[in-house]
Amino acid sequence: MNPTAGSDHPQTEIDALLGADVLERLDKPTAEGTALPNVAYTSEAFHRLENERLFRRTWAFAGFGHRIPKAGDAMPAEVAGQPLILARGRDGRVRVFHNVCRHRGAKLLTEAATGLRNFTCPNHSWSYDLDGHLRARPHFFGGDKHEAVRGTCHRADLVPVRCAAWHDWIFVNLDGRAEAFETYIKPLADRVAEYDFSTLGHGGTLTFDLKADWKLAFENFIEPYHVFSCHPWLHSFVTMKERTAPAFDGHLLYCGYSFQATDPARGEGLPYFPGLSEARRRRGDWFVLFPNFAFEVFPDQVDVFVAHSLGAGRCREEIVCYFVGEGATSPDYAAARQAVLDNWQALNEEDIGIVERMQEGRRSDGFDGGVLSPYWDPVLQQFSRLVVEAMR
Ligand SMILES: [Fe+2]
Repeated sequence: MNPTAGSDHPQTEIDALLGADVLERLDKPTAEGTALPNVAYTSEAFHRLENERLFRRTWAFAGFGHRIPKAGDAMPAEVAGQPLILARGRDGRVRVFHNVCRHRGAKLLTEAATGLRNFTCPNHSWSYDLDGHLRARPHFFGGDKHEAVRGTCHRADLVPVRCAAWHDWIFVNLDGRAEAFETYIKPLADRVAEYDFSTLGHGGTLTFDLKADWKLAFENFIEPYHVFSCHPWLHSFVTMKERTAPAFDGHLLYCGYSFQATDPARGEGLPYFPGLSEARRRRGDWFVLFPNFAFEVFPDQVDVFVAHSLGAGRCREEIVCYFVGEGATSPDYAAARQAVLDNWQALNEEDIGIVERMQEGRRSDGFDGGVLSPYWDPVLQQFSRLVVEAMR
């Protein structure tokens, strides 16, 4: 394992790609500054550096707990280009390991599995328990001379990855050196403390493949400036005059609005979080937890948005909807849940059109970071700064 993979001179490498004055441009007052230049969205070299630095050094979103609900459930995942295993142990805890056999390096798990007691490598049948300890190595000392005693060779245990779960959401820190997870999550957890997330259940998932960089997906998610132009139907419920600019606090970006009447596409009639204040019962808020986890919270639901980088200019988005109590599973609310999913499908198709156009535009010599709105766009500079600072 090499937790510090990459060049010894990260700053030089980043400066060579982005220009040595990149932070200067990002730090200027928004009306005179820019966001990230084209190369951050189009270059395979930049994508490689993102994997080596940004996604390894930060807490990064890795997967959903409800996809491995029972002890012995496991699934493959990928963060920073690293193949991983997310596994639920007999104690109910999720653990994360590098998804590779310690003997000859074959990938251990290629698809989700359930009811596992061990991970067994098909190459020479080495097996590991759900805690990652080597269990057995058939014929290891010669024909019929097996090693079958757990814990005899810790050097051959699976390599654990630092991980943490917050509600249904599993995060990893690959280099093991990021701040404590509690510190990382606190600004977000504090802002949504009034909502009892333990009442949430999974109610549906949408997946989209985009010909666009993961950063454009999140940048578009956080800014509401495009709503009047790209989402006329949404705008008919909350106009630009009722919207305020996104704000930020370090690695947390956030925005929200108060509404007068329930938007029918939010799934009318769904049960609300218990004990919400009157103000929260008429409010929607959304958050981006840098780098790759976002959600919207309404009185009756949480809709998680993640975008997984697949290379320069390619990503896979998932929108995962959660509802309160019976709202998540009861057939009585099936139509309301479907209305929410249909609305996200339509809304996100409108977004994908524009996000892919922005990706196309980043091949143009006529664009190099943009001319920004001093009111709506400071958050885009902040997102850009977080990218650069994590990589230098
Ligand atoms: Fe949008």
